[in-house]
Amino acid sequence: MSRPRIHVPDLPMPDAVLARIAAEFDAVRGGPVPDGVAGLLITPRDKLTPEAIAALPASVTVVATFSVGYDHINIPAAKARGLIVTNTPDVLTEATADIALLLILAASRRAREGEAMVREDTWVGWNPMQLIGWQITGKRLGIVGMGRIGQALAQRARACGMQVHYHNRTRLAPAEEAGAIYHATLESLLPISDVLSLHAPATTATDRLMNADRLAQLPHGAILVNTARGTLVDDDALIAALGTGQIAAAGLDVFTGEPAIDPRYRSLPNVFPLPHLGSATIETRTAMGMRALDNLAAVLAGKAPLHPVTA
Ligand code: DGY
Repeated sequence: MSRPRIHVPDLPMPDAVLARIAAEFDAVRGGPVPDGVAGLLITPRDKLTPEAIAALPASVTVVATFSVGYDHINIPAAKARGLIVTNTPDVLTEATADIALLLILAASRRAREGEAMVREDTWVGWNPMQLIGWQITGKRLGIVGMGRIGQALAQRARACGMQVHYHNRTRLAPAEEAGAIYHATLESLLPISDVLSLHAPATTATDRLMNADRLAQLPHGAILVNTARGTLVDDDALIAALGTGQIAAAGLDVFTGEPAIDPRYRSLPNVFPLPHLGSATIETRTAMGMRALDNLAAVLAGKAPLHPVTA
């Protein structure tokens, strides 16, 4: 039986994912998508604009993104063209929640400045007020978007002695809330969030959600963490708030326009930046790759996709 023809980006991938591609698919690696290819494996780097979708050969029927987010795909254009689009939900929950916790700790304990002091040999010895940060124990964590990742972060935050509050479109069942306090509006959540962590998808409704007005509603000296998408934050407003101390520090794993980020973030000492590492563990990236291939295999065998994007 002939193996389904797919196009795969020319990027490094976990060995197990590459081995499965070689065993189960006839894969074209990188370059333009040739006629005859039925499925595309893409990553958040591949922007499927309406123009890119229109330029695909007619043989392409399915696009599987190696990510849970699909804001890099123009879904209306894909739908209009009759493409099936799939993503990789569930498997990156724990890894992304770990990075959110890492950013909360790194931002609140001034890890960037501390590391620079050691690396640049400017550390002259212990002193009682050196790089004084802010303890998270007893502080209020506001979670915007209490889906799987938000809930996994809540569990970690409780273990650190934080009080968890959240805003979500719908209130969770008590078992999922696990004691977290629901806020029906952002306006209610923001003023009590000593630390605010963003876990909402990038949509037109969340574009620049954290603008100057909303940043001003946080307590003075709040910590902001973003592992969702850069577009949720208004960069000019955040950089201004980091300058005045309204936001004491930020931990950012995602940026508008990444990897071409606003250069001001590179020099701000109170920003702890990471290059979109939320799901970057070998376990999670393997599971994501396998999930994307499961979707391609199902659709190209004439079955229903396992994880269709239904937006
Ligand atoms: C996703 O899957 O959307 C993540 O942002 C990639 O780490």
